[in-house]
Amino acid sequence: MTTDATPSSVAAEGELVERLLGAMTIEEKAGQLTQFFYFADIDPTTAHETKDGDLSAQPAGVDAELAAGRVGSLLFVRKAHATNHLQRLALQGNRHGIPVLFGFDVIHGLRTILPVPIALAASWDPDVIERGQAVAAREARAVGIHWTFAPMVDITRDPRWGRIIEGAGEDPFLGAAVAAAQVRGFQGGRDVAPEHVIAGPKHFAGYGFAVGGRDYDEADVSDSQMWNVVLPPFKAAVDAGAGNIMTAYMNLNGVPASGNAWLMDEVLRTTWGFEGFIVSDAMAVHNLRTHGFAADLTEAGARAVNVGVDLEMAIFDPAYAHLPEAVEQGMVSVETIDECVRRVLRAKIRLGLFDQPYVDEARAAEVLADPAHREVARVAAERTMVLLKNDGGLLPLDATAVGSIAVIGPLADSRRDTIGPWVFDFDLDETVTVLAGIRARAGDTTVEYAPGIRPAKRRNASMFDMFPGNSPVDPVDFDDDAELQRAVDLAARSDVAVLVLGEWQHMIGEGASRSTLELPGRQLELLQAVTATGTPVVVLVLNGRPLEINWAVDHVPAILDIWYPGTQGGAAVANVVFGDVSPAGRLPFTWPRSSGQVPMFYAHTISHEPGNQHRRYWDVDGTPLFPFGFGLSYSSFRYGAVELDRTSITADETVTVTVDVTNTGSRTADEVAQLYVHQTSGTASRPVKELKGFRRVAIEAGATGQVSFTLGRAELCYWNAAARDWVVDATEFRVGVGGDSTVTLDASFRVER
Ligand code: NOJ
Repeated sequence: MTTDATPSSVAAEGELVERLLGAMTIEEKAGQLTQFFYFADIDPTTAHETKDGDLSAQPAGVDAELAAGRVGSLLFVRKAHATNHLQRLALQGNRHGIPVLFGFDVIHGLRTILPVPIALAASWDPDVIERGQAVAAREARAVGIHWTFAPMVDITRDPRWGRIIEGAGEDPFLGAAVAAAQVRGFQGGRDVAPEHVIAGPKHFAGYGFAVGGRDYDEADVSDSQMWNVVLPPFKAAVDAGAGNIMTAYMNLNGVPASGNAWLMDEVLRTTWGFEGFIVSDAMAVHNLRTHGFAADLTEAGARAVNVGVDLEMAIFDPAYAHLPEAVEQGMVSVETIDECVRRVLRAKIRLGLFDQPYVDEARAAEVLADPAHREVARVAAERTMVLLKNDGGLLPLDATAVGSIAVIGPLADSRRDTIGPWVFDFDLDETVTVLAGIRARAGDTTVEYAPGIRPAKRRNASMFDMFPGNSPVDPVDFDDDAELQRAVDLAARSDVAVLVLGEWQHMIGEGASRSTLELPGRQLELLQAVTATGTPVVVLVLNGRPLEINWAVDHVPAILDIWYPGTQGGAAVANVVFGDVSPAGRLPFTWPRSSGQVPMFYAHTISHEPGNQHRRYWDVDGTPLFPFGFGLSYSSFRYGAVELDRTSITADETVTVTVDVTNTGSRTADEVAQLYVHQTSGTASRPVKELKGFRRVAIEAGATGQVSFTLGRAELCYWNAAARDWVVDATEFRVGVGGDSTVTLDASFRVER
């Protein structure tokens, strides 16, 4: 079998693409535009992993398509031997020698699992995020994965939505910074660097606004919200060079996102100049028929191609298999299909797949085992943790002074829950639980463990359950009352009780919305019983969304949000709990008191007296449990007065905002200085506060650091729905810099016409 010559320049690339296009039949082109799931190492009948190299479990259909040269891409293949094997099949089957592209959900790591994405956002540290996703990319590329379906950059203000865990939270400014950092990490630059993968920001667009937080439900997003809140992270990801974009499942303002010409054509390609390829979400083209949008699969395929969805992700029965009929019926032109094929071929050429379609399996094993990756994951986890409460300085614990620690709760020793959802190729043996981490770091302190309650049962059957370890196992011989009492007794005889509370990982993620934010199972009862012993309690929250921990906030002295901290999670937790690291993560969302307050977000507008906003519900304070941007430290910080280098600018000038931050505590620690602005009047009513800058800085004890931000058109303009344009209003802007979104905006400048 022959492959075509290596293109060494753009001209050569173009020549190769055109030569291939000229030689391909319409069926082969449709195949190039189709991506199939392939659960290579999973036996679908037994739901267990097949032996290495045994790919017989795969249903025959996809193999036949591969052999016939009609597969452009595969997803879910995640072992080096499997990508090599399938690439060989593909190249044998494709008479033009076109390799397949392997895509996969490398969301927060492949083998080395990083903290979940919402946790990474809580680090407010673009560098640590970039480094983390570069490790994920390195592992993925080593096994032959070329492209990740990440980052998820959907802004959401509804924590009931399970996919809040995959994003950066509620804020478009933070979301944009996190999106760009992830793209840089995955791709290593605008062109995909060696040992990196194509990034595929998703889900374009508005998926985080699903009605009621119900996954896949429709989203009605106003023009203003779309441009000011939903789109900025996508724009930032595109500007950072993302090579791919994935469509969203749901109806956006009545038109399915995956068939939405406004989104794909007008916004993405025309306004933003996106030159990469677009993939549909899984079955989302097929679903255009389910939506009652297309009459049948032929029309579904034609309409998706016509709006520029280049690749259809399909589990079965792809609509793009009907493209030849669609051409015959005049629903789509060959030229339009060619344009899609061009984009897919270019991606393959640029990745070097025509030169080197295979990976070195021995090297892949070495890369996956690289201890430096575990180190990156541990540091990332340490930087994501948010200290929510610390009365009396209970934390950090002094291992030389505390005689005994009771570690309590089933999540404290669950390796699977430590790494969180959206992982498939993890190694539980190298996963450090909270219990293991505390034991390893505690020195001579006695550490004893009691689960107290049984793990939650599985509720929803989902495709993820077929992956080993993903479904919780109900323990046999578990005497509920006796176990609870055992935990209470243990707490009573210990110096400190560390309780890990939260959600089991299968309760959050795709298809895992919840109608309440309560702690599941008997966790509250366990917490109350342990607290009643009088032993000081530290609560560690294992979560990917805000939970109703109000009782803990009222009754326990110390609460640390540890998220789903990943492979090295327990080690990172121990380093924070024992004070090797001062926590400096900050909440990337507003933490409501009750799910009845949802959606709750800091950047709201105000239509009535400010004081009234706290009295909107008669049964609950209108303030959040914790505000956006909140997080404590083992040290303390004082902000000086905000200084502006000028108090009047034109829309094309900038103002520099400077503030001194003094570490008033007794240890070096990080602080996240956050800049908020408010536009006091104008041609639209703007939010009471908007984040427009942040810096995470390390400041030595007693020292003062200076932080500066620049405000100009990029930060001050907004999409005015009435004008249908970006505007900078000539008006007064108030400015404040502080440690969270409750900061007072006590400086101001004017934009003059
Ligand atoms: C559906 C999800 O919505 C999407 O985010 C994911 O990338 C695909 N499935 C593939 O797993």
